[in-house]
Amino acid sequence: MEVIIAETPTDVGRIAAQIIASIVSAKPAAVLGFATGSSPSGIYSDLADIRQSGDLDLSNARGFALDEYVGIPTSHPASYAAVVQRDIAAPLGMRQGNITVPDGRRADHDKGCRDFEEAMSLAGGIDIQILGIGTNGHIGFNEPTSSLASRTRIKTLTVQTRTDNARFFAGADEVPTHCITQGLGTILEAKRLLLVAQGGQKARAIAAAGEGPVSSMWPASVLQLHPCATVIVDEDAARHLELADYYRHAFQNKPTQAVST
Ligand code: GLP
Repeated sequence: MEVIIAETPTDVGRIAAQIIASIVSAKPAAVLGFATGSSPSGIYSDLADIRQSGDLDLSNARGFALDEYVGIPTSHPASYAAVVQRDIAAPLGMRQGNITVPDGRRADHDKGCRDFEEAMSLAGGIDIQILGIGTNGHIGFNEPTSSLASRTRIKTLTVQTRTDNARFFAGADEVPTHCITQGLGTILEAKRLLLVAQGGQKARAIAAAGEGPVSSMWPASVLQLHPCATVIVDEDAARHLELADYYRHAFQNKPTQAVST
């Protein structure tokens, strides 16, 4: 795993956006995995800026979202279908038909989840999966004790996650109790993983994910099993990392050809 400690939260988004832009430049029909939440929002605004400058064309790129709430309509402003369209696809100039979000309104969720995974496979798999991290270490909505081999499925949200996400709703009681999320096994199949985190409230989860044992108690620790995972954090999110000085040294002295971590 490569850990990059950026000086500021803005730098986190900038460095991540450059990595994604270089992938799309090399492969215009790249398949991108989108996370929602506030952590990756700087990535999307930086990518939109690069696009505005004429250096990035995402019109042939495809995108798959990590997760979706169950039980709210896609017209709800906090539904990830709405967020992905409004905050990601539109500013990045992606075609609506090129974006797939898990469907939280299916009568048969198992079938819906299988269809979603099949669509990802048919697209050739995810070239780069963008990830945030919950304060409890979740990625997507894979709450603690999620199977490390899990696939896309319906999942019950923890009280912590519903409280954390209440800011997107009228109140904590309005946050759905369930979601559809790509599984940890699904996420591991992406060709590259890129996790971003900012702020001291993520520091414990980042230390557990990067330096703790691989454990379903901290789902993001599954990134340690991936051959090409990059974690970009700001100084506050890095503050419990034991090997922070090594990560800074490694980034400053990175071999130009290094792709595997
Ligand atoms: C939600 C999303 C996750 C995201 C997490 C952290 O639970 N399902 O994909 O990583 O929130 O959100 P934020 O970046 O807003 O802290």
